[in-house]
Amino acid sequence: MDKLEIRGGHRLDGEVRISGAKNSALPILAGTLLAGGPVVLGNVPHLNDVTTTVKLLRRMGVEVTFHDGVRIEVDPRSLTEHIAPYELVKTMRASILVLGPLVGRYGKADVSLPGGCAIGARPVDLHVAGLKAMGATISIENGYIRARAKQLRGTRIVLDTVTVTGTENLMMAAVFARGETLIENAAREPEVVDLANFLNALGARIEGAGTPTIRIQGVDSLEGGSYTVMPDRIETGTYLVAGAITGGRVRTLRTRPDDLDAVLQKLREAGAEITIGADWIELDMGGRRPVAVDIRTAPFPGFPTDMQAQFCALNAVASGTGTITETIFENRFQHALELQRMGANLSIQGNMVVCRGVERLTGAPVMATDLRASASLVLAGLAASGTTTIDRIYHIDRGYECIEEKLLQLGADIRRIAS
Ligand code: UD1
Repeated sequence: MDKLEIRGGHRLDGEVRISGAKNSALPILAGTLLAGGPVVLGNVPHLNDVTTTVKLLRRMGVEVTFHDGVRIEVDPRSLTEHIAPYELVKTMRASILVLGPLVGRYGKADVSLPGGCAIGARPVDLHVAGLKAMGATISIENGYIRARAKQLRGTRIVLDTVTVTGTENLMMAAVFARGETLIENAAREPEVVDLANFLNALGARIEGAGTPTIRIQGVDSLEGGSYTVMPDRIETGTYLVAGAITGGRVRTLRTRPDDLDAVLQKLREAGAEITIGADWIELDMGGRRPVAVDIRTAPFPGFPTDMQAQFCALNAVASGTGTITETIFENRFQHALELQRMGANLSIQGNMVVCRGVERLTGAPVMATDLRASASLVLAGLAASGTTTIDRIYHIDRGYECIEEKLLQLGADIRRIAS
C-alpha cells in the first residue's frame, strides 16, 4: 500500500488548479445510464472512485472511452446487465447511484447494499422508500436491493432527512416517470444542481434543483450530449486550509467561489485574508498563526461535513480553543484520534471535538481511515515539525487528484512511497 511522507514546516505559496468535483462526476456518470446516445463528459477528475464507477458501468455492458485524459465518452445503449455487485459497491458507497436510473429506465436493478461504513451507519432507506412511493417493488435478497417496476409514476416525496445521493437517485428515477414528481426537503448541494443541469441538457425537465423542492416532469426519452463537470468545492477548501495552516498564501484556480461561502467565512474568522475573482479564490495568512474557530456541520448552504476534518487540523495548531460539532454523520472523528498522536490537545465529547490549539504538532506515523480524515492528516503533516508518514492513502486517492503533485507545486515537501 502506498504511503505519503511529508516533512512539515514549509509555508505554502502558489497557485493550484482545482479538478472536477468527485461528488458531481459520480452521479453524472450514473446519470449517463438514462441517455439515448453517447455522452461526452469534460473535467472528470482522475480518481479511484471514478475508476470504480467506470468499472461498474462497463460491468453492465456500457461502453466507456477515455479521450485525451480529461474527457470520458459513455454510451449506455449497449447495456446488458442491471447489477451493481458487492465487490464494487463495498469499495464505493456511491455505487448506490445506479439504482434510480436503472429502475427508472430499464425497470430493474439489483444493487448490493453498501453495508457498514467507516463514518457511521449511512442507511439508504430513503432511496428505497422514495422508489417504492413511485411504484417500484423492492425486496432485499441475499444482501441486494432488488427493485422492479414496469413504469414508475410521478408522486410527491417528502424526504425525512436531507440526503444528497438520495435526492440524486430519486431525481434520476423520476426523469422517465409518468407525470410529475415532487421531491420535498431535497438536498440543495451544488452537485445536485450540476446533475439536474446535466440531465436537462439531455432533455430532462427538472426545475427547482438548489431549492428544497425539486419538480420533475417525466419525459419519454433523453438524447446524448456533452457536459462539463463543476469544480470540486471540497478540494478547493482543502487547499485553502493548507495555505492557512502553514501561514502561507494559496490561490485556487478554476473554482466556483459561490459554492464555498460557509467555508470562506470560517477561514476569515481564522484570520485569513480572502480575495475572490470570477473563478479563483486566494487565501493569504501573511505568516500569522490561525485563530481557532467553532464549526457546526449542516446540509448546504451550511458548513459541509466533508470539510470538518480539515478544520479540526487547523484548530489543532490555532491559537485559542475551537469546537467542531458534527450533525450529519456519527463516528466521523477518527482523524481526531490520529491528530492526538501528533500532539493535538483535543477531546471528543459526543458529537463534538473540543480542541485547544498547540504551537506545533510533531510528525508521526499515522493511518488514513476515510477520505476526508486522510486530508486532515496531510494538512496536519504540512504544519507539523519533522516527518509524518500517512499509511493507507488509497482513501486520499479516492477523492484528491494528484494531491502530492499539487502540494509540491505549492512548496510542500511531500513524496509518495510506493510499496
Ligand atoms: C453525500 C456525499 C458525501 C457527503 C454527504 C453529506 C456523494 C457521493 N457523497 O453522501 O461526500 O459527506 O453527502 O454532505 O455525494 N440518511 C438516511 N437515510 C438515507 C440516506 C441518508 O438516514 O436513505 C442519512 C445519513 O445517515 C446521514 C444523512 O442522511 O446522516 C445525510 O447523508 P447523505 O446526504 O445521504 O450522504 P451521502 O449522499 O451518502
